[in-house]
Amino acid sequence: MSDARRVMAITGAGGTLGAALSAHFVGEPDTDVVLSDVSAPSLEATVNGLPAGGSVETLLADVSEIAQVEAVVDLAVQRFGRLDVLISNVGILSPNGRIHNLTTEDWERALRVNVLGAVNNIRAAVGVMRAQKSGSIVLTASVAGMTAWSHAAPYCATKAAVIQLAKVAAVEYARDGIRVNCVCPGTFLSGIHDDLPQEAIDAIAAKHPLGLGAAADLIGAYSYLASAASRWTTGSAIVVDGGYAAP
Ligand SMILES: NC(=O)c1ccc[n+]([C@@H]2O[C@H](COP(=O)([O-])OP(=O)(O)OC[C@H]3O[C@@H](n4cnc5c(N)ncnc54)[C@H](O)[C@@H]3O)[C@@H](O)[C@H]2O)c1
Repeated sequence: MSDARRVMAITGAGGTLGAALSAHFVGEPDTDVVLSDVSAPSLEATVNGLPAGGSVETLLADVSEIAQVEAVVDLAVQRFGRLDVLISNVGILSPNGRIHNLTTEDWERALRVNVLGAVNNIRAAVGVMRAQKSGSIVLTASVAGMTAWSHAAPYCATKAAVIQLAKVAAVEYARDGIRVNCVCPGTFLSGIHDDLPQEAIDAIAAKHPLGLGAAADLIGAYSYLASAASRWTTGSAIVVDGGYAAP
């Protein structure tokens, strides 16, 4: 990681967690940030919530398209000269249904966004970070990748894949000075819960010993992984879940 300024990129910077991460890191001293999302309104909402005076660039990009993720990384390099930290934050829930009731399209969509999206983030970032011989890549997984949620197989399976992807990438790129980790949040209310009835939210909350979290509760884990304090941490899945996965 650079001794001077830190250059970061966040994909999936729209939405609840993306907005919280963006506001936090843009407000950090000596930090340049590229923010990206597939949705213009979501990205605009994030930008509107940023602290004043930050060093920020934005770009619309679909993480399931490698050329678009490479464009995000290219923007960081062209504008700020390097890329120290990439946070891959995109994730979509799958439709509610048992495995035999979900369609091939349901599976392909979850795989393309949640798995291929994370792969594309790694592919794009290591192109720059290998040349620098340093970098930290942080993937957003979920406790859904380590516990079984009935009627949510594509989400659980793709988040498990993200955890495993971080481990394999950590082993593959350690010699290049690149660390790869993931964060596994428990449930914090966000746009992905918009269609859920209150009874369902209450049932999810009851499974979290500390209750539901908020996006702000995740900042510490990302902050650690984006800093030199985590220089000996790689291949880890950092669980921040109010105790959900403990039983
Ligand atoms: N909310 C939770 O309880 C929870 C729990 C565990 C993990 N997570 C994970 O945290 C991350 C953020 O979730 P959130 O709750 O803030 O969700 P959100 O829906 O509020 O935000 C997700 C963002 O991803 C963007 N996006 C979707 N598809 C994209 C694509 N193909 N390319 C680029 N951007 C795309 C959306 O436009 C949106 O801005 C996700 O990876 C999610 O799976 C969330």
